[in-house]
Amino acid sequence: MTQSPSSTMLGDLRVPVVGAPMFLVSGPELVIAQGRAGILGTFPSLNARTTEEFAEWCDRISQSLPEGTPWGVNLIAAPTNARLGADLEICMAKKVPVVITSFHAPPEIAQKVIGYGGIHLHDVATLRHAKKALASGCSGLILVCAGAGGHGGTLSPMAFADEVRRIHDGPMLIGGGISTGAGVLAARAAGADAAYIGTGFIAAEESMASPDYRQMLIEAGSADITYTPLFSGVAANYLSQSIIRSGLDLATMPTGPKRAQDQAKPEGVRTWVDVLGAGQGAGAVERIETTETIVARLAAEYQAALTRLVS
Ligand SMILES: Cc1cc2nc3c(=O)[nH]c(=O)nc-3n(C[C@H](O)[C@H](O)[C@H](O)COP(=O)(O)O)c2cc1C
Repeated sequence: MTQSPSSTMLGDLRVPVVGAPMFLVSGPELVIAQGRAGILGTFPSLNARTTEEFAEWCDRISQSLPEGTPWGVNLIAAPTNARLGADLEICMAKKVPVVITSFHAPPEIAQKVIGYGGIHLHDVATLRHAKKALASGCSGLILVCAGAGGHGGTLSPMAFADEVRRIHDGPMLIGGGISTGAGVLAARAAGADAAYIGTGFIAAEESMASPDYRQMLIEAGSADITYTPLFSGVAANYLSQSIIRSGLDLATMPTGPKRAQDQAKPEGVRTWVDVLGAGQGAGAVERIETTETIVARLAAEYQAALTRLVS
């Protein structure tokens, strides 16, 4: 397989992990801690309240990390995101090393990001979207598979990674339910350059999650995750306990990829604030820890799993 600049960059990580962007959870402290711990941290630009604040966060991250440490930003490429153009301008001005787009993959973004020497990854949940993203010229793909926190997909990573590898030999990440080093190795075995981990960092000391959110996650396992389109319009994974605490009945949660016309979002329930996102990897999150401790454990578990397999 050809070595693209981004697979080489991912190869320099302490353990092949990208810290996934999480709305209201990942900010500069987490990204800096992830970079210092030896993985690639990312955050959604919309976690900063304004484009000006987003620009300040970019400066803070690049000034806090040793030169050459990769990090990234997530841009929501949807018509509802009025800040897309302005935040993209900041990415260009600050030469953000990695830009991850969600929803659409407009060719202009790929052109601009790759144009300044950045890497543009797009997240996809189906082969059709993977083909569209590759046609838009992005550098690589993030396969958001079953069990992923937030807007997770429904495909098995084993099946999906294989299908994508048949058409794409560049950078590829797998996300969804990976919270251990053995899971990271499994993603590598399935053909990915790195694992994309969100849920495993929600309880990190440096995350923006509330104490209550961290505690609920620590108490949850894979069976305590509900996949429903009710709250954001498209299906996403949430902590079941946060749905119950919002006064709703799990038994009445709609399923399916999109919220139907006759299903209204429950009034007064704030998505991502009252109803909290998390994926099936929740079971591996046992305590609040520093990002360094989490990454050190992932690296040790990765090596142990590799040694076990080789022997
Ligand atoms: C609380 C939460 C918020 C998220 N917000 C975003 C987001 O703003 N943009 C995005 O592209 N993905 C978002 N995601 C998805 C993650 O980037 C990633 O795909 C997912 O966390 C990987 O699966 P895992 O949680 O099982 O590790 C979110 C996930 C969680 C858990």
